[in-house]
Order: sequence, then structure tokens, then C-alpha cells
Amino acid sequence: SAAEKCGYASFMLKEIAEQPKAVADTLLGRIDGSGTLSLDEVRIPPGVLREVDKVVVVACGTAFHAGLIAKYAIEHWTRIPCEVELASEFRYRDPILDQQTLVVAISQSGETMDTLMALRHAREQGARVLAICNTNGSTIPRESDAVLYTHAGPEVAVASTKAFLTQLVACYLVALYLGQVRGTKYGDEIGDVVRDLSGISGAVERVLGTMDPVRELARSLAHKNTVLFLGRHVGHPVALEGALKLKELAYMHAEGFAAGELKHGPIALIEEDLPVVVVVPSPRGRSVLHDKIVSNIQEIRARGARTIVIAEEGDEAVVPYADHLVRIPVTPTLLQPLVATVPLQVFACELATARGNEVDQPRNLAKSVTVE
Ligand code: AGP
Repeated sequence: SAAEKCGYASFMLKEIAEQPKAVADTLLGRIDGSGTLSLDEVRIPPGVLREVDKVVVVACGTAFHAGLIAKYAIEHWTRIPCEVELASEFRYRDPILDQQTLVVAISQSGETMDTLMALRHAREQGARVLAICNTNGSTIPRESDAVLYTHAGPEVAVASTKAFLTQLVACYLVALYLGQVRGTKYGDEIGDVVRDLSGISGAVERVLGTMDPVRELARSLAHKNTVLFLGRHVGHPVALEGALKLKELAYMHAEGFAAGELKHGPIALIEEDLPVVVVVPSPRGRSVLHDKIVSNIQEIRARGARTIVIAEEGDEAVVPYADHLVRIPVTPTLLQPLVATVPLQVFACELATARGNEVDQPRNLAKSVTVE
């Protein structure tokens, strides 16, 4: 009903707006004043976590994209190898699992059948399963060894927004916690990241306050047939998520690519005035990555692409090649998806609305997919 939407035209718009709170709520009570993580919910004993020699993340759709980002955080902060797999593929390839494998199953609803079957398979092989879930008491957490709940509140719109951001927060917490328990050499960095995480809700809020030009741009592109999304590093899953949002809401052909992969094929798709969204990593720290993406932007623009560039405040190198520039706050590289995804959600929602689509209930889709 209109009342439940609190004045927003759709649940999706309401849920996009709720993201700063969802992120803050998911962090609440999990980090103490000294920057130590206390995840009592993770009832897997520290001794067992210290023995883990492989992490496998299983999930579907948007939750899978959160898993792809989790891999960067887990491997960097814990040095434990991490695989990410679509839950629907997982058990059919006879994956290698044992008691030292930690399986992380990510699901907003906790009822996704593909993810449930994947975790059942993992437990049968002796692996420990940690669920990251938004729905209290749902099947996936009930069947897991432990659960870290995301505190997004109920997500009604079929397209996942606030649940995704909170899944990212939960993934960072799991990665940092594993690092803490195992005492990795990234100890100092973990302290910094914990501090940065506490400012992230405010950063998401700032992004939301600057979305008018993104909405205007989305409306102007409503007649297009295709939009491409490019990213590198954690920006690659962000690009995949931007494309998924546009597919499910606007019913458009949308694809996400790793920017470095362009020259191996997809660059042939570039034609005059094709909109291409590029998620640009921070120029600080990993400047090699930044330089490479700037040249990717140059290459596609030289072939006629209309470039829509999502870049950090103060990143001047991208300015000459951006037909449209969307600024996001300065954030540590691994946390950037929390701010970079927001403009892509707003873009898809507005573009779909301009095409006359019902954003809360896209055709052919269900909020939770309870069949395999
Ligand atoms: C996201 O916008 C989708 N509607 C969909 O991909 C979803 O993320 C996927 O079905 C997984 O759902 P779950 O998180 O409830 O398991």
C-alpha cells in the first residue's frame, strides 16, 4: 500500500533510500570501541576457524555479486584461498570440500533453493557452513552451522538493493573476523578498515544526495537498446550488478565486463553513442589499476562510446574522457562497491520507470526463487 511505501513511489526507491541505515544497522554492536570485532553469532569455534584452509562462497544473482566482492576481501585480509560459485552450479561439479572448508552461503531471503541445495551438499561433505542472511529463522540459516544476519529490514522490491549493501558489510566483517582470529599480518590494516567502515553509512548518504543528474541521464537513455558496464578489481562485480539491475528492471540488454577483457572480444560491440558505464577504482594506492582503466575509457570513447564514468571525488584524470561524470566519495579500494553500486541502482530504477515498467514487480521474476 501507499502507506507502507512511506511516500515513495515504489518500494525500490524506499529501499534505496534506506541504505545508509541498513549499512549502519548491520555494523551495529559488531565492532567495539577499540576496533575489535565481536561476532558472537559466528558460533564456529576460533580453533576451527584457524584451521580453515579454503573458503567457498555460494549464492545466486545479486548475492553472488556480493560473494565475488567478498573474495577480494577474504583473500587480501586472511590469505586463505577463496572460491565463489553460483549455487546452481556448485554441487553438480563434485566440488572438493572437507572439514577445513568454510562455505559461506549468502541469501537475502534464506529460501533460495539453489543456495540451500548447495549448502546441504557442502555439509554432507563435512564442510562448515556460515550463512549471511537477511531473514530471521529462514531455512538457509536454520540449516547452517552459524549465521551472520544482515540488518537491512524487510526487502519488498524484487530487485535487491539494501540487502546487497548489507551483504557486502557482512562479507567484510567475516573477512576481517577471520583475519582477526587468525592473526594475519594485515592486523594494522584491519584496524584502519574497521574505522573506514564506520564512516561508510555517511558516505552512502552523501551519494544519495547527489543523484539528480543520474536520474536525468537515465531518462535521456530510456530509448536505448543496450548499456554496457565495465570495471576492474572489485569494480568488476559492481559492473555485473549494474547490468543485472538494468536487465531485471528495464528489460534491456545490459552486460558487465572486466575492463581488461574488452580487447579480447567485447570491444567489437562498441558503436557510435553506445552508453558504457565505467566504474573507476581509486587513483590512490593501486594507481596501476587506475591508469589502466583510464586507457580503457579512452579506447572505447575513441570508438564512439558515450562514457558514463563513476569516479572518486578528486580524480581528475578521467575528466577529459567522461561524457557524464558521477562522483563518489573517497573510499578504501575494497570498500568502494558500497558507494559505487548506489548510482547504478538509481540509474536502473529511473530508466525502468521512464520506460513505463513496474519496478517493484518486474515481469517473470519472483522475490525468492524456491525451485531449483
Ligand atoms: C536481485 O535483484 C535478484 N532479484 C536476484 O538475483 C536475487 O539476488 C537472487 O535470486 C538471490 O536471492 P536471495 O538473496 O534471496 O537468495
